[in-house]
Amino acid sequence: MTDKTANQMWGGRFAAGPDAIMEAINASIGFDRRMAAQDIAGSRAHAAMLAATGVISDSDAEAIGEGLLTVLSEIEAGDFEFSTALEDIHMNVEARLKDLIGAPAGRLHTGRSRNDQVATDFRLWVRDQLDTAEGGLLALIRALLGQAEAGADWVMPGFTHLQTAQPVTWGHHMMAYVEMFGRDLSRMRDARARMNESPLGAAALAGTSFPIDREMTAKALGFDRPAANSLDAVSDRDFALEFLGAASICAMHLSRMAEELVIWSSAQFRFVALSDRFSTGSSIMPQKKNPDAAELIRAKVGRIFGANTALMMVMKGLPLTYSKDMQEDKEQVFDAADNLMLALAAMEGMVRDMSANRDSLAAAAGSGFSTATDLADWLVRVLGMPFRDAHHVTGSLVALAEGRGCDLPDLTLDDMQSVHAEITDDVFTVLGVENSVNSRMSYGGTAPAQVRAQIERWKSLLE
Ligand code: ARG
Repeated sequence: MTDKTANQMWGGRFAAGPDAIMEAINASIGFDRRMAAQDIAGSRAHAAMLAATGVISDSDAEAIGEGLLTVLSEIEAGDFEFSTALEDIHMNVEARLKDLIGAPAGRLHTGRSRNDQVATDFRLWVRDQLDTAEGGLLALIRALLGQAEAGADWVMPGFTHLQTAQPVTWGHHMMAYVEMFGRDLSRMRDARARMNESPLGAAALAGTSFPIDREMTAKALGFDRPAANSLDAVSDRDFALEFLGAASICAMHLSRMAEELVIWSSAQFRFVALSDRFSTGSSIMPQKKNPDAAELIRAKVGRIFGANTALMMVMKGLPLTYSKDMQEDKEQVFDAADNLMLALAAMEGMVRDMSANRDSLAAAAGSGFSTATDLADWLVRVLGMPFRDAHHVTGSLVALAEGRGCDLPDLTLDDMQSVHAEITDDVFTVLGVENSVNSRMSYGGTAPAQVRAQIERWKSLLE
């Protein structure tokens, strides 16, 4: 057997032998072509800077800049031939530039390395994703505000342990998600502010002896400043990890909301009707309308958090500075970003389209002795009973109602007084769910007036 003979284990794909295996494991062009626009923007900024500092001639810089635009338009038009032999996007672009403009192409890589080049490209790519996520979150928050505004005073059960706890308002429940996605928004913004430093000009690892102007390239690429340590600049991938961390938390939030929509849209709850646009029918059971979009959103956190874990493991224990391990940083980030944006868009659409069933919400709000706490509070407030005793008396009243198969407001005054003689007619004023929610006026509480104040606060924040 010669080197070129098919390997018995790997079979056909690597029939060409070790050279082909090396090419297959080494190449990143299959995925890093997604950074073509960023690569070309970085190279154009670099070439313009090399001319401005006198490292290359103006005419060479001009040929390079023009040639790169041609390469970009070829890639965008889909008639660029990517070569695996050329390994990655950086070398594919440079090789094509050489075809187009000849000798000046060879001057582009002066005072630069693929190490700072890839760090720059990937940072620009992730920065775009942070901006896209911000847009997606803002749209979702606006959709939630719309739901909250429509039903600021609609009553529904609030749950702990998924057991009916106390009545709350629909608006309050929607606004809880606004707070969650609002934190995601601020995490994306924080990450963007911290990551916005340019690695370009760090070169291979130590900087360069050419009189480059890193401020100039940083500014041209929209960075706030050049990264201050060349070793760190080429080996840092925190920016991608912070994006994945923020994306993971956001996807976790999306999964929680998705789970509620799955439960709420079931025949047993009927709290919401999801639109047909985000549901599917069953091929065998004619009555079914399945919340597929919600279920898929619920699942997305798996791959997004998986990407976060994967990149942490790639980076763990790597010595300074660049190691080829770091080429494994991209695919998972691409996949996580694509799926986060899709999940945000789907959730926004579902929230906009869904209709809350006000009657079902109200009926459920009053069941399960949801105003028991209001009754206990009445005993404390009106009769001056210690809360622990009030809790006990209320428990007996709940047991009584349960025995009768009725709710608390259905008990008679005689029933009430059989448990505690001092109870008066006035107690019935607190047993209604409307009264219950209206009374919860503490800051951040569920009273419609508090909910409306929070809606207004968010609207002015978003202006
Ligand atoms: N394709 C490489 C990556 O994605 C580019 C950097 C290669 N640098 C090197 N010294 N081999 O990380």
